[in-house]
Amino acid sequence: MTPDGRRPLVAGNWKMHGRVGTTSAYVQRLLELLDDDGTVETAVCVPFTALAAAVEAARGSRLLVAAQNMHQEDDGAYTGEISSAMLAEIGVRGVVLGHSERRLHAGETDRALADKVPAALTAGLLPILCVGESEEERDAGETQRRLRYQVQEALEKVPTERLAGVVVAYEPIWAIGTGQVAAPEDADEAMAFIRALVGDRSKEAAGRLRVLYGGSVKPENAAEILAQPNVDGALVGGASLDPASLAEIARAARR
Ligand code: PGA
Repeated sequence: MTPDGRRPLVAGNWKMHGRVGTTSAYVQRLLELLDDDGTVETAVCVPFTALAAAVEAARGSRLLVAAQNMHQEDDGAYTGEISSAMLAEIGVRGVVLGHSERRLHAGETDRALADKVPAALTAGLLPILCVGESEEERDAGETQRRLRYQVQEALEKVPTERLAGVVVAYEPIWAIGTGQVAAPEDADEAMAFIRALVGDRSKEAAGRLRVLYGGSVKPENAAEILAQPNVDGALVGGASLDPASLAEIARAARR
């Protein structure tokens, strides 16, 4: 638990990496290395094709298997899309929403996210909502404005009593995959701001809300970031491709 009683979450985001053929071995290795006692919640966010294999390999453990996107409707004429109901049906328990790579390359919008976040909750999936400013926005002093818009828009249709069931990942875009990590104090400040935005709707939910940091988290820098008061875990990209690194970061989240 964090000092405020929130259970840390460390989630590995494989992005477009991983094959069905190697997924079981990865999950088995991760489970060998993890202290799977529930102190830290651990998740792997894998490509659609690897979800069933990951769910199967994680069966009987606490490891949460998550997708990296979903459509907001349950069914319909949306060729190429996958719904929350379809994910839940195969045993998936979480979903990454609004990752900056999807915002940049796949036309993900805050408007769509406003429907996706509540749809995920309704299907029983843990939504991991990604927000964060670009380098230009940071340099122009626009970080808080960007975060306010993203957080308020995406959570707009989430009923107040369900707000605490959302996980928000603060991922400054300039820190993703670049090896450049936000200064821990700067990250903490942005994350405190995100918590305060939720606090405008419900103080109680803000106290329970888990906010993760993402952007070049590695075993070497994890402890320092995770020690910040508003950091409740990490969303890990590149380093999560090695189960030993993800397990080490999860260990750093035990405090
Ligand atoms: P990174 O990615 O750890 O490779 O920087 C983080 C993310 O995009 O979630």
